[in-house]
Formats: sequence, C-alpha cells, structure tokens
Amino acid sequence: MNNSHSNIKTTRAGKAKTLLHIDASAREDRSLTRDMGRRFMAAWRADNPNDVILHRDVGLHPPPYVSQDWVAAAFTPQEKRTPDEIELLATSDTLIGELACADILVIATPMYNYGMPAALKAWVDQVIRVDKTFTFDLARGDHPLEAVLSGKAMVLLTSSGEYGFAPGGERAGMNHLDPHLRTLGRYFGVAEDYHIAIEYQEFGDARHTASVTAAHAAIPGLVANLSRKPGLAAA
Ligand SMILES: Cc1cc2nc3c(=O)[nH]c(=O)nc-3n(C[C@H](O)[C@H](O)[C@H](O)COP(=O)(O)O)c2cc1C
Repeated sequence: MNNSHSNIKTTRAGKAKTLLHIDASAREDRSLTRDMGRRFMAAWRADNPNDVILHRDVGLHPPPYVSQDWVAAAFTPQEKRTPDEIELLATSDTLIGELACADILVIATPMYNYGMPAALKAWVDQVIRVDKTFTFDLARGDHPLEAVLSGKAMVLLTSSGEYGFAPGGERAGMNHLDPHLRTLGRYFGVAEDYHIAIEYQEFGDARHTASVTAAHAAIPGLVANLSRKPGLAAA
C-alpha cells in the first residue's frame, strides 16, 4: 500500500470524537459488511456531524504482509534505523497513527474460513508493533507484553455464510473471527466492545433475511449509545 495514495477520508478536524472505520470485505458490491459499515457511519454522522471519521479500506487496498526486513526494522531502536528501514515501517506508522487517535474502532469484516480475511490480518500485523502498541519487558515475568493504547470502544460488524457462531451456538467452537479480534483488542487499546452479526448469508432464506433485518435495526441503538459516551480514547 502506498501511503501517498492513502484512502483516508477526513470529515472534519477539531475537538470531536474520532472514529476509525475499517472495511475488510474483498467484495465491493453486494457486501453485507460494507453495507453495515455505511449504515453505521451514516447514523453516526447524522447524530454527530462534527466528529472525525477515518476510513481505511483494507479489503480493497490490503496492507503488505510483514517481512523479515520489516521485523528487523521494527526491533531496531528508532534512532538506529536506516532510511530503508524507516521507509519500510512508514505504512505501519501511518496505520498506527490512525488507530492511536481513534476513540472508536469500527471493523466491518466478513468471516473467511472461520476467521478474519487475510487483508485484515495484514492490517493487524502492521499495527500491533513493539514499542508502538505494546511494550515487551521480561522483568514482568511470564506476562512481558503490556498494551500502550487504552480507553477505546470497538464495534465489530460481521457477516458469515453459515450460522451458530455466537457463544453456545452449534458452531461457536469454529468461530475464530470475533473472539480473535477481541483478544487483539487489548493491543488496539479496547476497553469495551460491541458486536452486530449477520448470519445465514449462504442459505439466502428467511433466516438470513431476519438476521439482516435484526442487524440493521440494532445499528441506530448502538450509535445512540456510543454517541452519548464522553470521549474515550487516551491516545
Ligand atoms: C473466501 C471466503 C471464505 C468464506 N468462509 C466462510 C466461513 O468459513 N464460514 C462462513 O460461515 N462463511 C464463510 N464465507 C461467507 C462469508 O462470510 C459471507 O458471504 C459474508 O456475507 C461475506 O461478507 P461480505 O458480504 O461483506 O462480503 C466465506 C466467503 C468467502 C468469499
């Protein structure tokens, strides 16, 4: 991804909340998660016209996978990095900057092969970085990692072809999407999380229609709830 062609859209700068909206579907058309994200942001803008919305479309513009050189650069102290290493970390710096300034992280993502799309995982690998989003110190014993960011809300807007992925559901044990993102949320600085899920997409039957209707109906309430909260993030 070329940062000079970043697909960020900033609605307005100022003393307002900042939302970071991530789209992860590979589909541009007929994407249920893109549609949910659009509905969420439209409702948000209607309630909070002065807030800042950053949009990062990793589905259409996947960040690069981390490489051997990227890892070496990330673990080299900042003052010792070569110009090439600095350049190699530039995308990561940009993506971390967007995350750090967000009060609310909204991730609209499909389930692919029971987990997140590779493009979203590429974003995760770029933003969870030593001395940026976590610190590592063996003096902490068996729990050497500590999160740097804090105080954010995370909203997961997901869709799956099958169903039964919620706790207690018949496929709950196969669900590596929202549980994985919640585990990672610690390093995103997430203090509270919310999830709206569409299921049954592959069946295309009345259960799917009901699931879509319920998901859409849940969005305004969640927007109203989060809008009322004071600024959350301590970036
Ligand atoms: C590559 C790929 C893998 C998928 N894997 C799963 C899966 O493991 N489980 C599932 O329930 N649905 C799976 N699906 C179905 C999608 O989760 C479903 O179509 C979802 O609505 C896609 O999101 P979108 O509408 O925003 O593109 C998969 C779809 C694709 C394209």
